[in-house]
Amino acid sequence: MVKKLISEETEWSRVAEELKAEKIKLAFYDNTVISLLGNVKNRKILDYGGGPGVLAITLKKLGADIKEYDISEDMRKKASEKIGEENIYHNVGEIPKNKFDLIICNLVLCIVSEDEVKRIVKNIKNALNKKGFAFIGFCNPKLLDVQETNLDLRPKPSHKYEENHSYMKTKKEGGYQIIENHRPIEWYERVYEELGLKLVGVFFTPEYKLKGKNIKDFIIFKLRK
Ligand SMILES: C[S@@+](CC[C@H](N)C(=O)[O-])C[C@H]1O[C@@H](n2cnc3c(N)ncnc32)[C@H](O)[C@@H]1O
Repeated sequence: MVKKLISEETEWSRVAEELKAEKIKLAFYDNTVISLLGNVKNRKILDYGGGPGVLAITLKKLGADIKEYDISEDMRKKASEKIGEENIYHNVGEIPKNKFDLIICNLVLCIVSEDEVKRIVKNIKNALNKKGFAFIGFCNPKLLDVQETNLDLRPKPSHKYEENHSYMKTKKEGGYQIIENHRPIEWYERVYEELGLKLVGVFFTPEYKLKGKNIKDFIIFKLRK
């Protein structure tokens, strides 16, 4: 079977069904984020790049005042079916400033260009209120030299950990391929600082062992203005 390759940020709707079926990712990533968020009842939350709205609907059920923005029209439509059209922003200009108690941005920064990372971080900063926190997470860059995890198959690295570069990896659960933009953790930390977000904490999803390696699939940065 020919695998689907997602190489552009606007192409994610092609694997919307596969995203919904990513049970390990959901169990590890979404549950970790939810526990980091704490009590979400009545909190104003923005899911930036929220995809089909899987986490957004969970947060809504937990009582959050949830909004979503996603670059893909198809994803926005899927999310609006879950959380309501009135809770979807159709372009970044619609996202209100200084409003949100919590902003989550899951598995987005590692698939966009460096310039877009900076735009997204700026948009998140602008949308956060003074006391708010952002949780930005994606695949753990430290796994660059781990060829197999429960979620991914990676080629042997062609570059050093310190070097920003792109490579193609296969998602074991969905069976599709994506271009991962690797940047070291320190690169992201510099971008947050340059754009005025303060790093409050760095978290990882729970560790497990596979083929003799200790693996933590995802990193999550907690940030505030
Ligand atoms: C891997 S999916 C993650 C979806 C969801 N956050 C999750 O954790 O399941 C990446 C999502 O980011 C969206 N996306 C890609 N580039 C974006 C951008 N520049 N701004 C906003 N959303 C973007 C895609 O349309 C897609 O829905």
